[in-house]
Amino acid sequence: MTTLYLFGTAALPVLEIAETVRAAQARGWDVCLGLTPSAAAWLEPQLPELEALTGHPVRSEYKMPGAPDVWPPADVILVAPATFNTINEWSLGLTGKFVVGVVAEAIGKDIPTVAMPCVNSAYVQHPQFHWSVDALRSMGVTVLYGEGGFEPNPPGERRPYPWGLALDAVGAIASPAP
Ligand SMILES: Cc1cc2nc3c(=O)[nH]c(=O)nc-3n(C[C@H](O)[C@H](O)[C@H](O)COP(=O)(O)O)c2cc1C
Repeated sequence: MTTLYLFGTAALPVLEIAETVRAAQARGWDVCLGLTPSAAAWLEPQLPELEALTGHPVRSEYKMPGAPDVWPPADVILVAPATFNTINEWSLGLTGKFVVGVVAEAIGKDIPTVAMPCVNSAYVQHPQFHWSVDALRSMGVTVLYGEGGFEPNPPGERRPYPWGLALDAVGAIASPAP
């Protein structure tokens, strides 16, 4: 089976991650779920259920030196929802968090990677956000932002997060084995 690393960060759509895992599995992916520490705290009561659902440990921390890899290698990585903070950390190479470390290395390992931000229209006025999106695209990351991807909402207004676009983009890059 083909392996998708699904990495969620601390924006509200991460609370829907179980449904997205099921949707990815229905498309044929073996899903390994990674979370930032903030997202893991939000999902803490659901973590046992998410581990049972994926059949893999949910990871939010680096392993200890010498500890074995607990996941199969990734065929493709999806970072969604991706916060302003995580997009900027990734672009700048600030790898204090496990999931950011993995996707920073993925660029050099040529592992196809897709990111779909979740940011409001106030965050995107900070110039670093656009510099980060441009930099990630120049590194080969597919960033689903703007027309055809995530479009920012006014602060405080929730809109459905376009998970389907993210899974379609992943499927267009790498198809799960039948
Ligand atoms: C209820 C709530 C909703 C949030 N929604 C967003 C969001 O949609 N986008 C965003 O960039 N940050 C959002 N934040 C702020 C992030 O959670 C915060 O910047 C956090 O440090 C991100 O950490 P992470 O990138 O390591 O997950 C939200 C915070 C809270 C408390």
